[in-house]
Amino acid sequence: MNASSLQPAQQSSERPANSLYGGTRNRRTTVRDIATAKQRGERWPMLTAYDALTAGVFDEAGIPVLLVGDSAGNCHLGYDSTVPVTMDQMVMLSAAVVRGTERALIVADLPFGSYQESPAQALHNATRLLKEAGVGAVKLEGGERTAAAIELLVQAGVPVMAHIGLTPQSVHALGGYPVQGRGDEAAHQLMRDAKAVQAAGAFAVVLEAVPAELAAQVTASLAIPTVGIGAGAGCDAQVLVWTDMAGMTAGRVPRFVKQYANLRSVLGDAARAFGEEVAGGSFPGEEHSFH
Ligand code: KIV
Repeated sequence: MNASSLQPAQQSSERPANSLYGGTRNRRTTVRDIATAKQRGERWPMLTAYDALTAGVFDEAGIPVLLVGDSAGNCHLGYDSTVPVTMDQMVMLSAAVVRGTERALIVADLPFGSYQESPAQALHNATRLLKEAGVGAVKLEGGERTAAAIELLVQAGVPVMAHIGLTPQSVHALGGYPVQGRGDEAAHQLMRDAKAVQAAGAFAVVLEAVPAELAAQVTASLAIPTVGIGAGAGCDAQVLVWTDMAGMTAGRVPRFVKQYANLRSVLGDAARAFGEEVAGGSFPGEEHSFH
């Protein structure tokens, strides 16, 4: 049997009851659970989610942390980057994900333009995500440059996941989505960024598109967990964008994506079968009709 087809109940018999993934916890994951998982050396999965229905599926599957990523821009809202995503959109999507779940910690992205002005702006918008959407934590992009904002949020009681390496909100400045941290100076900067967000109080840090060896070094140097995406196997946790992981994305996906299903073809087949039956007159049948 493929491990990815196991249900959480089957997984739990093989893992300690307090495991983040496959454990028997029947309340929401907290940032304390995440800290103790790092101490135990436990690896855990995170997925993005943008709506109540899909988030509910991942919650039932036992994914302990769901990210309402601003990747909603590309993957859910039809934009070609994360840049246009607004606070109002993030609040609406995050509230739906919270409503659709019972156990996962819900982390919501602060979108581009919602925290770069000042730490006070970051606190104002993070507060909206906690109060209006009900999320348990926020994520923002940047290392040393966002440390002051992280510090203020954490002091105010907002758990923060940091995000360094490739920061997609800077797509225009970066000229695309290149791998980060290559070369000595870039590697040192990544390490400084990781240490800065940890010192500012972040409870975890996403490492996106960085060489696996460097990500492993960063992971070993931090007391907080690293969440890798395109950062190799040495991170404490791994995140994928759900539409990539489940084969919903049209066209090419980044090299670091593994597709665990081909939902785009499953849904397309279902829609075509429905279309054929309606056009051919075989749907609805007697069993679908009232008299
Ligand atoms: O927005 C997002 O989905 C993300 C992940 C790629 C980590 O930030």
